[in-house]
This record gives sequence, structure tokens and C-alpha cells, in this order.
Amino acid sequence: MKRDEWKSRLGFMLAAMGSAVGLGNIWRFSYVAGENGGATFLLIYIFFILAFGIPLLLTEFSIGKAGKKDAVGSFMRLAPGTKWHWTGVMGVIGGTLILSFYSVVCGWSLYYLFHYLIGDFWTEPTGGFGQSFENWTSTTWEPLFWQFLFMIAVVLVVIRGIKRGIERANLIAMPALAILMVVLAVYSLTLDGASEGLAFLFTPDWSQFGNPQVYLAAMGQAFFSLSIGIGGMLTYASYLKSNDRLPTATVGIGIMDTVFAVIAGIVIFPAVFSFGGDVTDGPPLVFITLPSIFASMPAGGLVGIGFFALLVMAAYSSALSMLEVPVAYVHRTLGLSRKAAAIVCGTVIFAIGVTVSLGYGIWSHVTIVENKNILDSIDYITGNYILPLGTMLMAIFVGWYWTKDQAIKRSEINTPILQSSWYFIIRYIVPVAILVIAITSIVDK
Ligand code: PHE
Ligand code: NA
Repeated sequence: MKRDEWKSRLGFMLAAMGSAVGLGNIWRFSYVAGENGGATFLLIYIFFILAFGIPLLLTEFSIGKAGKKDAVGSFMRLAPGTKWHWTGVMGVIGGTLILSFYSVVCGWSLYYLFHYLIGDFWTEPTGGFGQSFENWTSTTWEPLFWQFLFMIAVVLVVIRGIKRGIERANLIAMPALAILMVVLAVYSLTLDGASEGLAFLFTPDWSQFGNPQVYLAAMGQAFFSLSIGIGGMLTYASYLKSNDRLPTATVGIGIMDTVFAVIAGIVIFPAVFSFGGDVTDGPPLVFITLPSIFASMPAGGLVGIGFFALLVMAAYSSALSMLEVPVAYVHRTLGLSRKAAAIVCGTVIFAIGVTVSLGYGIWSHVTIVENKNILDSIDYITGNYILPLGTMLMAIFVGWYWTKDQAIKRSEINTPILQSSWYFIIRYIVPVAILVIAITSIVDK
């Protein structure tokens, strides 16, 4: 059977951008930045995006485009008889785990959208948004219902495949979200706490530059945000026609994604300081501060509808790319139809997600890593260890397993100086840096 492919390069670009821009830019970025000191984190984060993230995104794309198969199959084809395909296997597991908690947060977003639509959240509920978030997420069935609904929507589009499903879903959502975020940022700058929020985001605390945990968190966030390390971008690139080129798309995606994150920071941190929130609130942060912003602004209810609608769409296009990783693999190896593969993977992910959701309710006492609940633990392990390990292996694969000529040809970079800088980063800097950061942060514990 002929493998599916993108109709146009633009379709691929939008889908890859849709994968990159998601809850990671708004929800995860703001809580990880909040917990890791704000400006110091932001600077290191941007450094990681530019120095490692963008070159690594190109690396992951080039493996997929050359391999022309799913995350595991591409490695098997490019390096037959070796153990390299375990990199892909780890990606399949990583994608499954990430989507299991991502879909919980997607469920929260859907619930918020619904409550904006029916007008419930237009004004601050008694006890505040923080209290109402806590009360609701600690119930058992309702969060599961929204998460389930979300997963069904994801499975349905993945069943339809690349051209008809994933490619179409991205066309409108991205630009609309960008415009709304800018409007919100401008409004946020008029709030009382704007200067404090901006200081938190842009004035680094130099003493924190020696803290290895901040580097680990910034690196993990950079990889998470660019969707690299689990083979999602690899799989997307495998559906490209061979005359579609990679480097410009890569840089465009990297910059877009970072701009979204910085704007999200400008929206959120002034609001945290204006409405008496706590920057170290963790994953619930945006679900508490954003509604406070909306409740304070003119026509905030409508803005809330728009915002959560777009957030759900952004999350949706990211979730599609995560589900695509195990589905493409299972579809090829287990001889299941695309439809059956999507249903099987979606069910497994939902089942793991149930435990994540209950971690905010009846299982809130369950901790896996340190004192982190189930969501935080899976997020921490996948973001800070699986993604860096996955990207590091891909860099070693391209930098050491491939010949220099192969690597450069498949990267499709034309300018000699860029070719050699990219190759040097991938071959030497990335593997060493990731190892050093991972080891120092473990020792530091
Ligand atoms: N990059 C996505 C986001 O920022 C999350 C993601 C991670 C998507 C890994 C696919 C693979 O929300
Ligand atoms: Na992102």
C-alpha cells in the first residue's frame, strides 16, 4: 500500500508548527518558568532553543525524511541490524506517556471553554478561580469525561490520516491564536502588576545561573516545546515528498514557537502579580490566572471563549502529532489498520491518563518523583530525561553513525558555514552538553 503523504509543503509546515505550538507554550512554559525563577530560566531557555533546539529539530526532520517510516521503522531502514531503532521505541513510549498527561490538561481546557460558553466563568466564582479549579479537578468523573471527549476527537482525526485529517486541522487555528495572544499581552501590560511581572520575566537573578536544575528544566522545556526527542517530528517529516526542503521550515517553526512562549509569559506574569497569584503554583497556574484576567477586562467573557477555543485547537494539533508516533508504529508492525491502531493507542493512553487525572483527586497523595503528583512526575521524567535522551541519541546517530557527507546532504543546508556549524553542534556540542547537564543535575540532587 502506498504510504500517505502531505499534499503540500505548506501543509507540512503548518502541521509541524501545530505540533510545536501547544499547551507547552502557554501552560507548561508559564509554570516551569514560574517555578524556575522567571528571567534566568527564560534566557537559558532561549539559548537552548537557538543553540540546540533548532539544529536538533533539523536533525530529527532529516532522519524522518531519509527514513520514510515511523520512528522505529526509519531507524531500522537507515541502520539495519543495529540497535538504533531503540531510539524510536523510546519515542513511542515517550509519546504515549506525554499524551497521557497532556490529554488531561486538554480536558481541563475543554471544560474551561465549555464554562465560558455557558457564561459560568465570566465573573469570579465565590472563593476565587483557584478554589474552583481545585474543587473541580478533585472530583472523579467530570475531568475524565472531558479528557475522554478530547481523546475521541484526536483519535477520529488521526484515523483519517495525514492529508485529509491532520493537514486540514491546522490551517486557521495558528494565525488566530497568534493574534489573540498579542491582544491579551497588550491588555496584560495595562494591569497594576505589569512592571513586577515584566521584571520577573525579564530581569535575571544572576545567582541562579549556577543552578543545574534551571538548566535541566530549560533544556527539557525547549525540547518539549519544539516537539523533539520522541519522533513526532521525525514521523511528520517521513510524509514529505522528497523535493520539499527542510531548513527554512525548521527555523520558521523554532522562531514561531519561541515567540508564542514569550508572548504567553507577557500575558501571564503581569496577571499573576496583579491578582495575587503565586508564580510557583505549578500546572494549575494558567487555569487560575487567565480567568482572573478575563474577569477583569471588558468583554472578558468573550475573550475567554476565544482564548480557550484557540488553546484547545493548539493543544489538539499537538496531541495529533503525539498520537501519530505510536499509531504509525503499531499500524506498520502489528498489521492493524490505521483505524484499529488509532483506537488501540488512544485507549491505552486514555487508561494511563485516568491515573493522571485521579492524581488531582482521590490519588492526590500518590507521589512518584520526589513530592510530585502523578502528572508532575510523568511530565518531569519525560520532559527532563526522555526528551533529552531521545534528542541526544538522534544527534549521535546523525553526527557519528552517518558519514559527514550523508548528514550534510540530508540536512539540506546549502551554505557551507551553516553546514559546518550545524554539523559541529550536532556531533560534539549537543551530546556532551546534554550529558553534562543531566549528570550535574542528578549529582546536585
Ligand atoms: N510541542 C508541544 C507543545 O508545546 C508538545 C509536544 C511534545 C508535541 C512532544 C509533540 C511531541 O505543546
Ligand atoms: Na511548543
